[in-house]
Amino acid sequence: MDGNGRWAKQRYMPRIAGHKRGVDALRATVKACIDRGIHVLSVFAFSSENWNRPQDEVSGLMELLGMALSREVPKLHEQGVQLHFPGDRSKLNPRVAEGLCRAETHTSGNQRLVLNVCFNYGGRWDICQAATKVHANGLPLTEASLSEHMALAHVSDPDLFIRTGGEMRVSNFLLWQMAYTEFYFSDVLWPDFGQSELDAALMAYQNRERRFGRTSDQILSERPDSDKE
Ligand code: FPP
Repeated sequence: MDGNGRWAKQRYMPRIAGHKRGVDALRATVKACIDRGIHVLSVFAFSSENWNRPQDEVSGLMELLGMALSREVPKLHEQGVQLHFPGDRSKLNPRVAEGLCRAETHTSGNQRLVLNVCFNYGGRWDICQAATKVHANGLPLTEASLSEHMALAHVSDPDLFIRTGGEMRVSNFLLWQMAYTEFYFSDVLWPDFGQSELDAALMAYQNRERRFGRTSDQILSERPDSDKE
């Protein structure tokens, strides 16, 4: 969800105002995903590296998380959203960390959309914490054992990665999980992201051929006859 700071700067507003509008864009995107029958949405709300931002922005983002918890969780629950907050909670305010646990428990029975709000998350952190658990459980280190201990083990690997704000990098997001994910980059700043941008990304995704290491001919020969043109 990149571009909040620039969105605010363009309007001579403080960066946190951009993050607040970012929450609005996230709320609208959740609804758009539900309307389109998408079952999993994972967003990067705060990275392991975001602690290096100015102190007032970091505390503003923590406050926003607390506010979003109390304001948004009841609405999300009504919409059938199952919430998860993958990330390292050890550095979070204990009250906020407890709020995250409560929101997860409260919404755990919902089936319409799984929403992963990655907070104090880093792809490298995730690989290390999974490897530590595998080791602690005395298991052999394999792709399967590591996958089972990753912070997003409750969902399958992402099909599509969308980065807004014009940057073309992964920035330590789901490093392990995105081995075969399709990438889509948009110049739109996150607060301006809406249904038409989501649909443009989905259209681009539909035109990709996912080969998972195989050849185009192999993929074509395995398609049902009705799909061959
Ligand atoms: C990156 O844009 C965005 C973030 C670091 C924060 C994303 C957070 C939200 C959208 C709010 C949702 C948060 C919660 C608590 C649910 P940037 O600040 O790097 O923008 P820039 O590249 O224009 O400076």
